[in-house]
Amino acid sequence: MSDSQPKLTAQLLNRWLEEHKALPMFPSVISRLDAALQDPSVSVDSVTAVLEADVGVVARIMKTVNSAKYVMHAPAQTLEEAVRRLGFSTTRMLACAAAFMNMMTIPQTFSARQFWRNAFVAAVAARELVLLMQKQGRQLDTSTAFTLGLAHDLGIFLLDSCCADRYREVALLARDNPTALAQIEQQELGVNHAIAGAVLLRSWHFPEEWVMAVAGHHFPARLSKDMQPWADVLLAAESMTFYLGFNNGICASTPGVLPELTQLRLVAIGLTADDFKQTAKRVGLLVSQEGWLELADEMPA
Ligand SMILES: [Fe+2]
Repeated sequence: MSDSQPKLTAQLLNRWLEEHKALPMFPSVISRLDAALQDPSVSVDSVTAVLEADVGVVARIMKTVNSAKYVMHAPAQTLEEAVRRLGFSTTRMLACAAAFMNMMTIPQTFSARQFWRNAFVAAVAARELVLLMQKQGRQLDTSTAFTLGLAHDLGIFLLDSCCADRYREVALLARDNPTALAQIEQQELGVNHAIAGAVLLRSWHFPEEWVMAVAGHHFPARLSKDMQPWADVLLAAESMTFYLGFNNGICASTPGVLPELTQLRLVAIGLTADDFKQTAKRVGLLVSQEGWLELADEMPA
């Protein structure tokens, strides 16, 4: 790629985002749902009332609850019945998945299906890693883990939308080296997908802790100490996707490989390589059992 190409910065990406509006705004249904679920005594009616505001989310929940995996004696006729059958936790995960998938455009330089398969594996991996950390007394929560796992690589969409030709070249250079993707982006474009993802999340008014976790998920040690745990969880979750053989539509997967940086950062969150491998085995089963791969496969190849 020519050195004469102008380099991107987070500010330029932000301006591009404001001018183009190519990536839609994050649906407020998720923030309102999270606010409602903060109340331990929240009712099914209140959750249903929040969800009803988003047709795409409702459609996804109804489709899932009436799929072979969930349907019991008869199909659920109403959203209220669906929420009751699924439970709040699964309802939230589905709403979040639908919100993200519905809002992102079809990419020009990579496979949407591969990307979303990878994103769902990362979401389940982050959730399961946090569950393990909770057992060791850590205070991170699983619903944030799932959302961040889903969102951590969304910056790839922003880079694809704003400079597809240049990103196509990046993808070629990174094809066989997933751990170098962020460095190659930085070198070729001036900004990497982690920073681009943070720009997106900030434009959606996500909490600053989440923004920084996404910004630092390839280099957690560059963040301040208090911001590192979520970035470490995301680094481990992303490594787990490639370890399990799920590529992100850009780089080839590396089944069975636990990268050196991930091994180092696992120590920082109190986990071992063995914890990683055991969790990976579990995640490999859960992504199929919970229907996430099926959901991603609705996207174009
Ligand atoms: Fe990443």
